[in-house]
Amino acid sequence: MCGIIGYVGNKKASPILFEGLKKLEYRGYDSAGICTISENKTLVEKDIGKLDEIKKKVDFNSLKGNIGLSHCRWATHGKVTKENAHPHFDCKNRISIVHNGIIENFQELKDYLIKKDHKFRSGTDTEVIAHLIEENYKGNIENAVRNSLKKIEGSYSLGVMCLDEPDKLIATRNESPLIIGLGKDENFIASDVPAILKHTNKVIYLENHEIAVLTKNDVKIKLDKKKIKKTIHKIDWDSELAEKTGYKHFMLKEIHEQPRAITETLNGRLDHGGVDFRKELKFSEKYLKNLDRIIIVACGTSWHAALAGEFMLEELAKIPVEVEYASEFRYRRPIIDKNTLVIAISQSGETADTLAAIREAKNRNAKILSIVNSKGSSIARESDSVLYTYAGPEIGVASTKAFTTQLIVLYLFTLLMSSVRKSLKKDVMKGLIENLRKIPLEMEAMLNDTKSIKKIAEIYKEKDHALFLGRGVNFPLALEGALKLKEVSYIHAEGYPAAEMKHGPIALIDKKMPVMVIATKDVYTYKKVLGNIQEVKARGGIVIAIATEGDKQIGKISDCVIYIPKTLYILSSILAVVPMQLLAYYVARDRKLDPDKPRNLSKSVTVE
Ligand code: M6R
Repeated sequence: MCGIIGYVGNKKASPILFEGLKKLEYRGYDSAGICTISENKTLVEKDIGKLDEIKKKVDFNSLKGNIGLSHCRWATHGKVTKENAHPHFDCKNRISIVHNGIIENFQELKDYLIKKDHKFRSGTDTEVIAHLIEENYKGNIENAVRNSLKKIEGSYSLGVMCLDEPDKLIATRNESPLIIGLGKDENFIASDVPAILKHTNKVIYLENHEIAVLTKNDVKIKLDKKKIKKTIHKIDWDSELAEKTGYKHFMLKEIHEQPRAITETLNGRLDHGGVDFRKELKFSEKYLKNLDRIIIVACGTSWHAALAGEFMLEELAKIPVEVEYASEFRYRRPIIDKNTLVIAISQSGETADTLAAIREAKNRNAKILSIVNSKGSSIARESDSVLYTYAGPEIGVASTKAFTTQLIVLYLFTLLMSSVRKSLKKDVMKGLIENLRKIPLEMEAMLNDTKSIKKIAEIYKEKDHALFLGRGVNFPLALEGALKLKEVSYIHAEGYPAAEMKHGPIALIDKKMPVMVIATKDVYTYKKVLGNIQEVKARGGIVIAIATEGDKQIGKISDCVIYIPKTLYILSSILAVVPMQLLAYYVARDRKLDPDKPRNLSKSVTVE
């Protein structure tokens, strides 16, 4: 949700913090602020708006000092105002705080602190932490933080600085991500890797309740006052992946990165006519063979990937699959036994509901396999086994390359399950793999010609509503197409199984309604989808079809057609999503919206 970055070292802190915030802005862009310590003073600049707007109003560069904290906010408690922007301070501006999360007992703490004569300046839950630390401060900031945490209920990742100990940063977390970056004569704290990638690729993942004490030359991590040894992870992401490299927006860059991301996700995983997960998957063949059910939990776009995964696994590996919204699953009493595998899908690996869902499943003795993009993230760490998507950092709030690489990993896992369960003949398996290998090149070709999609975007530009229809493995795609469009262009969009349209949504169709229909050729439902198109046309709707190259028939009954290369039906969704992503991007651009920072959204939903 919010983004935090802190620095201590020999360099001037404020430019490093500003640059780091720019990399974290996908986490929150209501308001932002930076504070530093210099010459026994706490210096601060903060305001509302996106970073570039704030930069025009305040002079972050005027903040001197080699130590500092910064924050970009996605409001939870308290409106979007300058007073509510972080950092927050104690009464005397000696203790500075940046916080991501929600303090559940903040009102109770605030009442207690007001009675103790603390003066509050904001309506946030965060400010109570600064005053609580002030109340507990007896000359040692580390101890003051430790003692304050005993009274705090809720989720947090925190960065703390104190004027009386001006060479120290304190960091801690509970159910909200925080990493420590290790540099040479400088150290960092951050919500996520891209913020510090330019300076270091050595990272420590802080766990719940651990307290880190950082100076420029040292990092100590403690749990219950005891120093603990932590693994240092090397991040293999190139820092360029977190830059726009000439693209106007991250969303467009990430759409175009998909062929590379898919190639990297396939790399080393296809071997001897099958799938090779030996180095990664920690489950025995016997365990996988004896499974009698899979439950997939996820949110948002990852949930759509899960629905496509259900189709793949049931169709090819012949194993029953259920897909659950993680936010619902966590509050049910799911029936799980030792032969049920729970798969969690998440780009960030930090989504609070998905994390809670896997904990619920673990309590019921299920094994967890996660499909995650962010290395070392909480979901990855808490799973029994992880299959990574190698999409690289996804900065645009709208998920694009994460989705297609999730589909790729689900497809690979399906092939593995099919071979373990002997549900496919060798030549069928060979064909499935051959077609999979072609996907990056086919996608590359599609991305080289986006003219028709730009034209179609003009149809949508002035619309208030849109429908997306698909069947079978392409039904989740209809949901994804609608989600992409609504989140970046603010057009109300709905995704439906094409035949289900007759049971209600058809009432919405008139000559103003654009209906995007995924109508790729297959032996199952293609003809039925043609029928669904006719139903839309008969009611005056505008049909935009996504069809297989060479399909002449579809052009006769649709207003516009976007062709995708001929591939296996089960792989078609990986290609067919690309025009939908581009459409959403171009419609947002034409409506003069910023697709990287859609209103009210945050990239990583780390609160419930
Ligand atoms: O990081 P996760 O994959 O767990 O995130 C899940 C959703 O929050 C995410 O997919 C969201 O729906 C995106 N904004 C969609 O573009």
